[in-house]
Amino acid sequence: MKEIKAIVQPFMLAKVVDALKQIEGLPGMTVDTDVQGFGRSLASGARDKITLDAIEYAKKAKLEIVVPDELADQVVQTILQHAHTGNPGDGKIFVIDVQQSYRIRTGESGADAL
Ligand SMILES: Nc1ncnc2c1ncn2[C@@H]1O[C@H](COP(=O)(O)OP(=O)(O)OP(=O)(O)O)[C@@H](O)[C@H]1O
Ligand SMILES: [Mg+2]
Repeated sequence: MKEIKAIVQPFMLAKVVDALKQIEGLPGMTVDTDVQGFGRSLASGARDKITLDAIEYAKKAKLEIVVPDELADQVVQTILQHAHTGNPGDGKIFVIDVQQSYRIRTGESGADAL
């Protein structure tokens, strides 16, 4: 199992999620529509930003998607394609190995629990 964690521009989120929902077998996702951060280019040029304790953060949206290994590439490619504007601040995608997952209602574990 892999977790795809993606930070994207908030105004691109709906387009990204719509595209991800087309992927057959996508088990689910968690979305945080209101996160703050900065990348290499800091948040100075961001169109939507906030300042907390004299530090500027750009407003972003975060997706967390845990999938069977064989779906990871398709999820990454879909986000790359649909979150892209070509401007600074388009975001980042991280792919993380997931050791275990559990479905609370049934007690299933592993990929069966996704
Ligand atoms: N190394 C990182 N670790 C954790 N979060 C990150 C990292 N880099 C970027 N982010 C998150 O991704 C968001 C978008 O980053 P951003 O696209 O601005 O990166 P960048 O390196 O500055 O690239 P760009 O030149 O496209 O702006 C940041 O606001 C932050 O929330
Ligand atoms: Mg940046």
